[in-house]
Formats: sequence, structure tokens, C-alpha cells
Amino acid sequence: MMEGLQAIKYERGKLQVLDQLSLPHEFVYDDVSTCEEAFDCIKTMRVRGAPAIAIVAALALAVELEHKKDGANEKQDLVKYITSRLDYLFNSRPTAVDLSNSINLLKKQTQAAASFTTKTGDSACAEIRGVFIKTAEKILEDDYTTNLAIGRYGAEYLRRQQMPIVTPVDENEELRYYTTSPPGTQGAPDKTYRKLSVLTHCNTGSLATSGHGTALGIIRSLHKMNYLDHAYCTETRPYNQGSRLTSFELVYEEIPSTLITDSMAGALFSRKKEEKNISAVIVGADRVVRNGDTANKIGTYTLAVLAKAHGIKFVVAAPTTSIDLETETGGSIKIEERAKTELTQITGAVVGKDGKVDVKHTERVAVADQRVDVWNPSFDVTPHELIDAIITEKGEVVRSSKGTFDFKTIMPERW
Ligand code: MRU
Repeated sequence: MMEGLQAIKYERGKLQVLDQLSLPHEFVYDDVSTCEEAFDCIKTMRVRGAPAIAIVAALALAVELEHKKDGANEKQDLVKYITSRLDYLFNSRPTAVDLSNSINLLKKQTQAAASFTTKTGDSACAEIRGVFIKTAEKILEDDYTTNLAIGRYGAEYLRRQQMPIVTPVDENEELRYYTTSPPGTQGAPDKTYRKLSVLTHCNTGSLATSGHGTALGIIRSLHKMNYLDHAYCTETRPYNQGSRLTSFELVYEEIPSTLITDSMAGALFSRKKEEKNISAVIVGADRVVRNGDTANKIGTYTLAVLAKAHGIKFVVAAPTTSIDLETETGGSIKIEERAKTELTQITGAVVGKDGKVDVKHTERVAVADQRVDVWNPSFDVTPHELIDAIITEKGEVVRSSKGTFDFKTIMPERW
């Protein structure tokens, strides 16, 4: 049972996607019933986040097949149709690997269904459509259970990094401590720990996935387990996924949180690390390659460098669907470049003289000289050397003797 905000609403034959460009002002769900609509929704970032992109693409085609928009009554024609629709969706956004991983899975299952069916004509097509739809629905369901597991593993990883405190707890501040037995020592006398604070970047929550989220899922789990003092989130320029979406999710969930601009992270670490026990930067991933280099929202690399300089753990939360074992190092990842208007213009709801936000009245305004040259890479690559832990639904990824991450242990079938 999925809890909380839902970016994607689905029942067989009907897909609705929350328009994230209207957030946090308005809650509008758009019907998505064709691959063209899904492509547009992904490209314009009304839905975004690596897992959510893959889910919407898979389910849009499942909806088409449920309504038999393919018009096929021979299995070869249907397989051709499905393949061409998936190839079309593949080109919507290039950096997140979840989309191509789910496309590969859907193609493989479709081919297998076509090869193994003993039926012919219409009944073979019905069987293949059924296999496709079930595979797409499983991508949605699996993502949610995956996120819950990442949340648990991530919270436990961060918990293990904490040292018990020896000084007596200041009674006025007791809310900032928790008491439990040290990890792996059930039954031993309880010790006291400081709650921890973390910084996250971009949006990796319910809005970027089927629910719960990855990096934001870890923050949710930390909060539920009573280990969290405070969550900081960056604004995440230029598209403001942090201020528009993550801060909205944190407020919605009543998680103690503060929004900062991207450029404030260094000041936050140097001035608040001790006071707030800032213990980790937790981010998601669009593509983690074979050695552990990770592509994620632009600004992630900067945060990793800053975290290293301040002795703060840098943690990547990534489902195995975001792992690309075909690519050896981060240098080969294709980085999407987006329109210059994302930097030179901004959309917001109008604020009246009384300070009230008029949610029905949004305006696009220029924030730079429109003639200026702009470079707008949507992602950057953080080298594996700067990453302390990669947390997947199968647990923490161990390191090889060379210092790279070793995915063989968690993904032997894809190694
Ligand atoms: O451009 P976006 O908003 O799709 O970028 C999203 C990110 O970079 C996320 O951190 C990543 O996709 C992981 S979402 C669980």
C-alpha cells in the first residue's frame, strides 16, 4: 500500500501523472494515454526523476496496449509495434538509465512471450499484450518496495556511523538525542546518541518515484526511526526541484527542514556541522556506472567535494534499476543539456501586496538578459573516490581492493 504523495496514479487502462511544473501551488493530474503524451510529459519535466520517468514510459505503452491502439492481429506486427514505441520513448531524456533498463526488460519479456506462445493470430496478440502490461505494472510495484528497502538500509548505515556520546545530555535539548543499544548488540545496555542532520539535493522523493523515494526515502526513514534532527535541502538551480518539490514534500510530511540555495552548502557545513551534527549529504542517482561514478543532478559533484573537505559522509541512494554495468566510467555518460531559458526565465505564482500567494495566477518572468550565452548541463558526474557509500535495495555496495565499487555481490545476474 503506497502512502503519501503520488506522482503517478495508475489502474489498468488509465494512467494519470501529477504535473510537477504546477507544484507546489497546484495539484493537477494529467491523463497520459499514449506514448506521445508520455514523451512530452517526460521531456517537459512534468514528470521527472529517474525511476518515475521509466515507470511513466512503461505504463503509457501498457495503457495503449490495453486499449489495443496497436491494431495488430499477428504477433510479429505487435512485437514490431511495441519495439518501435519503446525506441521512441527511449529518446525522451538521455541521462537516467532506469528508462533504458526498463525498456530492455520490456523488450525481453515481449520477445519471450512471442517466442513461447503456442497460440496464433488474435489470441497470441492478447497473450503478448497481457505479458507486457503485467511487466510494466511490476516495474511500478517493485519500485515502491525497493524504495522502502533503500530507506531502511540507508538509515541503518548512517546510524552505524554515529558514536555514542559520553557527556551527559543537556536536559533542555533532550529532543536532539535518542537512546538505543549500539548496532549489532541487541540486549546490551542502551547508549545515547545525538540525532543527525543531513543535506539533500534535487528531488528524490515520492515525486521522483512510485512513492517514498530514494535519498529522500532515507530521510523519511531516519525521521520515522527518530534518528533525524534536521533535513536541509538545496534549491537546486536552475529547475528548482529542491525548492519546488523537496521542500514541499518535507513540509507535507512534517519533517523538520530548512531550504538553502545551492551556494550556501559550504557555509552550512562550516558553520552548522557541529551544532546540528550534520553527518551526511544524501543524493539520488540518474546513472551509476560500473566503477561507482555517479551521474546526478547538476551540483551534486560540488556537494561531494564540499562534503569531503568537511569530513561529512557522501551517500548515494540508488535502486539497482539506476545501475549501468555496461558503462565502465563516468566519462562515458551522456549528459543532457537543456534550454537556456531554464536559467534566464523563471515561473512562479504571483504574491499579492498582502503577502498571499495567488496559486491560480502564475507568471513567467525574465531573470537575466535574454541575449546572454548560457551553458545548462542538467547533470554532473561525481567520481567514485568522493562517494562514501552507495545504498541499494539490496544493501550497501562493498568496495573492491582497487577502491571502486563492486556490484558483483549485489547483482551477480547482471555482472
Ligand atoms: O532532471 P531531473 O529532475 O529528472 O533530475 C532528477 C535527479 O537528478 C534525481 O536525483 C535522480 O533522478 C534520482 S530520483 C530518485
